[in-house]
Amino acid sequence: MSNFLTEIFQVLQPWIPHLLPVSIVLFVFQKFGGSHIQPWFFSKVYSPLLSDYHVKYRSIKKEHFDSMKNHVSADLALRKKGALRILEIGPGPGYNFEFYPANSELTVVEVNPFFEEQFFKKQVEHPYIIMDRFVVGYAENMKDVPDNSVDVVVSTIMLCSVRSIEGALQEIRRVLVPGGKYYYWEHIRDYDNFWVRFVQNLLSYTTHDLVFGCRLNRKTDEVIKANKCGFSSVEQKRFRTPLQPGFGQLRVIHSAHVKGIATK
Ligand SMILES: C[S@@+](CC[C@H](N)C(=O)[O-])C[C@H]1O[C@@H](n2cnc3c(N)ncnc32)[C@H](O)[C@@H]1O
Repeated sequence: MSNFLTEIFQVLQPWIPHLLPVSIVLFVFQKFGGSHIQPWFFSKVYSPLLSDYHVKYRSIKKEHFDSMKNHVSADLALRKKGALRILEIGPGPGYNFEFYPANSELTVVEVNPFFEEQFFKKQVEHPYIIMDRFVVGYAENMKDVPDNSVDVVVSTIMLCSVRSIEGALQEIRRVLVPGGKYYYWEHIRDYDNFWVRFVQNLLSYTTHDLVFGCRLNRKTDEVIKANKCGFSSVEQKRFRTPLQPGFGQLRVIHSAHVKGIATK
C-alpha cells in the first residue's frame, strides 16, 4: 500500500504546485466573479498549451486529415474548385486551418466567445480558407447549422469537454450531407495502464470543473464505436501520442487517443 501511495504521489507531485493554487483562485472567481471568468481564463491559458500540442503532433494530425482532400463536395460549385463545406466544432484559437483544402468554406461552432479574436487572427495566415460564420454555441445544439448542409465535420480534443457526447454526435450526423464525413481526434481514458487511469480519475474533477473544462477519463472511443446515432460506418484507431523525455513524460496523462472517420 505504501508503495502504491508513493507511486501516486510521484506522478501527482509536479502537478500539485500548479493545479492547487489555480484551482483555488478559479473556485473563488467562479463562486463570486460571474460565469465569464472561467472561459476568459481558458482562452488565455489554453492558447500556448494548444499551440505546443499542435506543433508536437502536427505531422500525425496531418496524416489523419490527409484523406479529406479526396472527399468530394455535395455542392457543385465547391466540387469544381476541389473545395469542401466544413464545420469545425470547438476550434479554440484555430490550429486546424492548415489541414483544410484550399477554397473550402468554413463555419465554426465554439462555446467560448473569448476565442473569437485569436481565431480570426489565425485565419489571416490562411487566406485560402473562406470563413462563413463563427457561431457561439454548443456542439450538442447547433441550431444555427441546417440539416444536411456540410460535407465534413471536424473536432480535435473537443469531445472531452461536451456535456453529452451522444448529443454532440447526433447533431453532427444531422448537419452532415448523406455520405458526409466526421473527422475526429480525441484524447481518451487510458486503455491499458491502470495507474494512469487512476490518476486520470483523480484529476478529472479539477481539470473539468475548475481548470480546463476537460475530462481526462472519457471513454469517447467506446461511445463513438457503439454508434447509437446511426452513422453508416465508423472507422477508428486508438493510439498514443509520443512522449518526450523528462517533464514530457507527464503527458502520459493524456497520451491515449482515438482518431477516426465516421460516415453518414
Ligand atoms: C481542448 S480545446 C481544443 C481546441 C482545438 N480544437 C484544438 O485542437 O486546438 C477544446 C475546445 O472545445 C471548445 N468546447 C468545449 N465544449 C464545447 C461545446 N459543448 N461545444 C462547442 N465547443 C466546445 C472549447 O471552448 C475549446 O475551444
